[in-house]
Amino acid sequence: MSDSESKRDNLFANPLGAVPSFVFDQAVVDVFPDMISRSVPGYETIISHTGELAARFVQPDTNCYDLGCSLGASTLAIGHSIEGRNATVVAVDNSAAMLEKCELILASDSATTAIELVNGDICDIDIHNASLVVMNFTLQFVPMEKRPGLLEKIYHGLNPGGCLIISEKLSFEPESLNKLLSELHHDFKRGQGYSDLEISQKRDSIENVLVPETLDTHIRRLRTCGFQSASPWFQCFNFCSLVAIK
Ligand SMILES: C[S@@+](CC[C@H](N)C(=O)[O-])C[C@H]1O[C@@H](n2cnc3c(N)ncnc32)[C@H](O)[C@@H]1O
Repeated sequence: MSDSESKRDNLFANPLGAVPSFVFDQAVVDVFPDMISRSVPGYETIISHTGELAARFVQPDTNCYDLGCSLGASTLAIGHSIEGRNATVVAVDNSAAMLEKCELILASDSATTAIELVNGDICDIDIHNASLVVMNFTLQFVPMEKRPGLLEKIYHGLNPGGCLIISEKLSFEPESLNKLLSELHHDFKRGQGYSDLEISQKRDSIENVLVPETLDTHIRRLRTCGFQSASPWFQCFNFCSLVAIK
């Protein structure tokens, strides 16, 4: 998508009084590319390397899943990297507003890889014959009690040698380290033009909606599921991308 199609995110620029809980509604969809690129350090790097990892891992005649696809940034990075392999990208999101815009973006793109859009909950969909599963900044929104079952389902849906990419905001222990990395993230956002009011209202809005976990929790859960290996391949402040191989 070209930058000109993305409106500037000013959703939290004015005092909101009681800040409502964050939802992926039409207002967020309208500013989403600007919001995520100015809020997540390393976002563009993670998306482009998602494509590079897809090129390495996607096998002919298999499925790739982009869970929480939003406007299809990861879907398109994968799609462009695996042209001609007769693989299908299944892109899933439970926000109708996101999927509606995603469909328009995909329709105007030149990728020839088959892409199937699914409006549904990633905890409920079937995953099978997968050589790649991607969850870029989505697991953090899944209720905590559903995360182990979702990861187990992904593990079982992956073929041997298949790859899972999980990108997340992290929490840290002890709290002093958590505070430092959170402040570095807020400095990053200030550098991207967000005001202190925008930063604090967004933080209030997202609290209890985006629930981060520690890197150790992610790695231990992946190993418990059975993944042969799991490691971060990218980290900037409190944002990380992990790769796990079945
Ligand atoms: C931060 S966005 C993901 C960004 C996207 N992966 C990218 O890299 O541009 C999180 C997305 O996950 C979706 N989502 C959250 N929980 C979900 C669930 N349980 N099932 C399906 N989609 C979900 C939201 O609607 C939202 O579009």
